[in-house]
Amino acid sequence: MDDRSNTIAGWVLAGGIVALGLSIVTGMYFKAEAPEKEGFAVVVEDAAAAGGAAAVPIATLLATADIAKGEAVFKKCAACHTIAQGGANGIGPNLWASMGKAHGHVAGFAYSDALKSIPGNWDWEGMDKWLANPKKYAPGTKMTFAGLGNPEERANLIFYLNAQGSNLPLPTPPAAEAPAADAATGEAGAAPATDAVAAPAK
Ligand code: HEC
Repeated sequence: MDDRSNTIAGWVLAGGIVALGLSIVTGMYFKAEAPEKEGFAVVVEDAAAAGGAAAVPIATLLATADIAKGEAVFKKCAACHTIAQGGANGIGPNLWASMGKAHGHVAGFAYSDALKSIPGNWDWEGMDKWLANPKKYAPGTKMTFAGLGNPEERANLIFYLNAQGSNLPLPTPPAAEAPAADAATGEAGAAPATDAVAAPAK
């Protein structure tokens, strides 16, 4: 009798260990996929998925964007893209003056239909969403770049991109409304802009 219940207890224990092991392994898989985006950025992505934009509007981030930092971020793109005027297409198209142009405007580059079929031109918010998560912005895109999770990094980069031949006027930040919109959160600036996000629709 004792033996049998020990055996049963043993199996129950073993089962528990297997389950624990599985959950650890599962946890490892999730961890393994996570690092592309920082935890903070996941929230931003969810906001974007829900139809909004980043927690802090791109227009606000652009107001304090740093072009030198943006140029440094562009190193992540340079494996596939040139940006100088008249630069060659690589794995990706030349990006000179791409801000403000149609999606997939470079003649002679074989874009995916996914990207080319997106209506409209590259604007601030579109570029921000694209660089946050290319596959979400254009499902089926050929750009195998995971995305930049850090909104400030994206703003710096887009600021730099715009200065390469496009020079679109910067969008007006919804500055005054942002802190008031979510007073409960206390902190001005960073987090509370979620409500204000709905306002600057495309
Ligand atoms: C692994 C290669 C690769 C990397 C890295 C990469 N891209 Fe791309 N990019 C592509 C490809 C390929 C396309 C064309 C996508 C398509 O047709 O779906 C593209 C398209 C684009 C476009 C659209 C251009 C147009 O003419 O409409 C922009 C903008 C862009 N990339 C910006 C960037 C930026 C900024 C970075 C760095 C953060 C970057 N890419 C990193 C390969 C890459």
